[in-house]
Amino acid sequence: MTVERPVVRQRRLRRTPALRDLVAETSLAARQLVLPVFVREGAAEPVPISSMPGVVQHSRDSLRRAATEAAEAGLGGIMLFGVPTTKDAVGSGAVDPDGILNVAIADVAAEVGDALPVMADLCLDEFTDHGHCGVLTAGGVVDNDATLEVYAEMARAQAAAGAAVVGPSGMMDGQVAVVRDALDGVGRTDVAILAYATKYASAFYGPFREAVDSSLTGDRRTYQQDGRNRIEGVREALLDEAEGADLVMVKPALAYLDVLREVRDAVSVPVAAYNISGEYAMVEAAAANGWIDREAAILETLTSIRRAGADVVLTYWAAEAAALLRR
Ligand code: PBG
Repeated sequence: MTVERPVVRQRRLRRTPALRDLVAETSLAARQLVLPVFVREGAAEPVPISSMPGVVQHSRDSLRRAATEAAEAGLGGIMLFGVPTTKDAVGSGAVDPDGILNVAIADVAAEVGDALPVMADLCLDEFTDHGHCGVLTAGGVVDNDATLEVYAEMARAQAAAGAAVVGPSGMMDGQVAVVRDALDGVGRTDVAILAYATKYASAFYGPFREAVDSSLTGDRRTYQQDGRNRIEGVREALLDEAEGADLVMVKPALAYLDVLREVRDAVSVPVAAYNISGEYAMVEAAAANGWIDREAAILETLTSIRRAGADVVLTYWAAEAAALLRR
C-alpha cells in the first residue's frame, strides 16, 4: 500500500519560534492591558484577597505605587474600585468628593498625570448596604431611573477628581446617555466613557464580591444579562455605542468569547473585555496545585481574548503579563 503524501504542508511555518512569530495573527502588548485595582478606605497596609491570590485591597499609598509601576510598565490604563468603610441605602460614598474612590482617583491622577489613563468603575454596588448596583424602590426592586440620577452625579464627581475614563457598569437602561449628558453639562466633553455594555450575570464574579466586601444577598439577574442570550448581547453594545460610548466592553470574557467576536464585528468603537475575578482565580488555583503551567496559562488566556476580538483587555495579570511579554 502506498502512503498518500500531503498536498498542503502546514508544519513548515511552525518549525522555529521565528517562523511562528512571522505568521502570528494575534498580538498581545502591554498597551492593550488595563489593570483593575481595589483601594480600601482607612487601610494602612495592603489587605490580601484570599480568593484572588496575588491581588490586594490597596491602601492609598500602595495604590499610588501600583499606579506608578503600571505607568512604567506601559500599561493601557488602570481601573479603580473603591472599598468604603461605611455603606448606606443610596450609596452616598460614591458621590462624596471625600469618598474613597474619588479620593483615590485624585491620588492616582496626581501620580501619573496623562501618562496612564485613569479609569473608574461607575457603579453603586460597593457603596450600598444592600449591595445592589442601584437604589431600590419601596418594594425592594432596583429603580432604573432613580439610579440614573445618582450615576450622573457620580460621573461628575469622578471627572472632577481626575478620571480620564469613567466605566458605567451597573447595567441600567440609558446609563451611557445619562452619563454623557452629565459630563457634557459641566463642560467635561474630554472625559471618555468605557461602557460595560454587554455584561452577563455570572458565577465567575464570586471572588470580586470578597474583593469589595460586597453585602449582596441574592443576585443581579434583573439588570445583568442572561447567559443564554447572544443576540441581546450585540444589541446592548449597539445601544451603548448609539448613546455615546467611546469604548464598549464584554464581560465576563472566557465564557462569552463568541459574544465578544460578534460585538467586535458589530460596532465601530474599540471593544474591551474583562478577564474577571473568577477567571483569574481558576488559573491561580490550578497553578497552585501544580496542575497547569501558570505563566503559559496567563498568556494563552489573554491571547485568546485578543483573538476573539478584544482591542483592550482588563486583567488582574496586566502588570505581570507586561513583564512576561518583555522577556
Ligand atoms: C460592578 C462590577 C462587578 C465587577 C466589576 N464591576 C461586579 C458585579 O457586577 O457583580 C466584577 C469584576 C470581577 O469579577 O473581576 N461594580
